[in-house]
Amino acid sequence: MAGKDDKNVPRHVGIIMDGNGRWAKKRGLARIMGHRAGMETVEEIVDRAYNIGIKHLSLYSFSTENWKRMPAEIEGLRELFRIYLMSKVEKMYARGVKIRFSGRIDAFGSDISKHARNVEEYTKNNTNLEVVFCVNYGGRQEIVDAVNKLLSERVEGPITEDVLRDRMYVPDVPDPDLLIRTGGELRMSNFLLWESAYSEYYFTDIYWPDFNSAELDKAILDYSRRERRYGVA
Ligand code: IPE
Ligand code: IPE
Ligand code: MG
Repeated sequence: MAGKDDKNVPRHVGIIMDGNGRWAKKRGLARIMGHRAGMETVEEIVDRAYNIGIKHLSLYSFSTENWKRMPAEIEGLRELFRIYLMSKVEKMYARGVKIRFSGRIDAFGSDISKHARNVEEYTKNNTNLEVVFCVNYGGRQEIVDAVNKLLSERVEGPITEDVLRDRMYVPDVPDPDLLIRTGGELRMSNFLLWESAYSEYYFTDIYWPDFNSAELDKAILDYSRRERRYGVA
């Protein structure tokens, strides 16, 4: 298995944590129970990512399209997010985890965004692993927000890739090396569109609540066997 000093360990892994609803349905439970179970998976995967030596972990938690869901599910997700932030932060802090948020989090609820900013401030000097929660995140919206930032700064053209990249939500985080999607769908659903230009993809049918350390190891092993060429012959 890949270890901490392995050069084949991806520096930045992004995960589309999908399949919570179907996991619950299979058990005759309400969808929110799937989200609750998924929250526990997050804890296990953060731990494993740290042990493997991954430096950045982006977790797709709520997309800009997820507002189309029933109000009860959205409220349930917000409540779980609040609970998560309150109950798991100390544990992550103890492991030296730096927590960040990416997305239009202010529109996710003022109490949550305030709490999120506090957590960012509290953990900002930690260096073992950076966990980026993508909340009310959309890849297209991120690019549009970056362009609007440029306009408000009255930046003069021509615009380069670097100038635009610097206006993304977390510009200091390197592009993801590996993107994992659980739950069986083969699509990106508006996740990290700009940043994933050269990412490797790994898809698994396993529902997010059933994803675990061994499954993450499998994805990393698969990644480590690939050859990344970036257009070079
Ligand atoms: C992913 O699980 C979690 C969020 C989108 C918040 P889903 O809720 O999309 O689960 P499925 O895809 O319906 O099974
Ligand atoms: C993507 O999952 C969003 C998150 C995991 C937060 P969805 O379940 O919302 O994606 P679609 O609707 O299947 O594309
Ligand atoms: Mg889904």
